[in-house]
Amino acid sequence: MKQPTAYVAGTGRGIPAKILTNHDFAALGVETDDEWIVSRTGIRERHIASAAESTCSMAAVAARQAMARANVAAGELDVIVLSTATPDRLLPATAVDLQAELGASRAAAFDIGAACAGFIFATSVAEGLIATGVGETILVVGSERMSSIIDWTDRSTCVLFGDGAGAAVLKRSIRSHALRPKGVLATYMRSDGTLADLLYRPAGGTTIPFSQAVLDDRSYLVKMAGREVFKHAVRSMSDATDRALDAAKLTGADIDLLIPHQANMRIIEATAKHANVSMDKVYVNVDRYGNTSSASVAIAMDEAIERGQIKDGSTVMLVAFGAGFTWASMIVRF
Ligand SMILES: CC(C)(COP(=O)(O)OP(=O)(O)OC[C@H]1O[C@@H](n2cnc3c(N)ncnc32)[C@H](O)[C@@H]1OP(=O)(O)O)[C@@H](O)C(=O)NCCC(=O)NCCS
Repeated sequence: MKQPTAYVAGTGRGIPAKILTNHDFAALGVETDDEWIVSRTGIRERHIASAAESTCSMAAVAARQAMARANVAAGELDVIVLSTATPDRLLPATAVDLQAELGASRAAAFDIGAACAGFIFATSVAEGLIATGVGETILVVGSERMSSIIDWTDRSTCVLFGDGAGAAVLKRSIRSHALRPKGVLATYMRSDGTLADLLYRPAGGTTIPFSQAVLDDRSYLVKMAGREVFKHAVRSMSDATDRALDAAKLTGADIDLLIPHQANMRIIEATAKHANVSMDKVYVNVDRYGNTSSASVAIAMDEAIERGQIKDGSTVMLVAFGAGFTWASMIVRF
């Protein structure tokens, strides 16, 4: 196994206070019910940003908590990598707004777009930057205001998503002769752009700008072929767990906690089964957050640490998939 080059020094999350339960959809005129949503997805409620809460502001709350726990001041950050599918503005990157908000004046800051797999992609990029000596202390954030890009008249998508942010500070590992050194043990990333139209926003970019979008067809909002996405999700998450375990020369039995992307309980269960990890070693919060896209794995990791489900020495596997398609996995020892 390779000597880890980077480790997770601290984590945090920024969650809007407002909760929308499955029962609240009736008042919004959405024809659905709690039983349908829970049986198909496992989701019971999700957090929704207020008008005052942005992708940047939620990211800042998560980042400050992660930096405090890592004992890192804003001026010590070399790089900020922010993953989002819901940037506050199309230009510039939300990462520079976050940089300004934190006062991280030395940092290079940029966004990554890899949808729901984005936090693992961003963490892999950060690890690579540390390995090549570009930086020693890197802030990685996944932040999403999904409520602003979902179609609240489409019951097959609007019940699935929620808002929030999660963050981690990655630091360069100190060379160690420990038998079980802490840090990132393996990473794996893949994409398949031939599947792009299964989950996308047709308008709002440069091919169909907002000014030319047919506003009535709500083409600037998320469109999803749910069943197809489901099939590919199970396949790609399973593939990703295999690859990370192989790279780290581990098996499912070595994993103390599996943190899958929180999109759907049935996808989580299928992934855990494939990876041979029992459900008591799987972190689940999809019931309380819904799908927070690239924030999901980061929020779950932060909660798991807070609840003592990740301790010093724990071997944790992260795995996610998202629009693109993108999929990725990572094994981290704490
Ligand atoms: C979206 C998803 C929950 C739908 O479940 P499903 O069992 O595949 O359901 P279908 O889409 O086949 O729809 C079945 C019926 O439920 C209805 N339905 C859809 N959404 C509904 C809702 N919120 N409430 C009640 N009924 C609903 C459909 O209209 C359809 O009715 P019909 O048979 O009369 O046409 C499921 O496909 C899924 O989870 N896919 C993956 C999505 C995902 O994770 N995306 C994020 C990727 S990062």
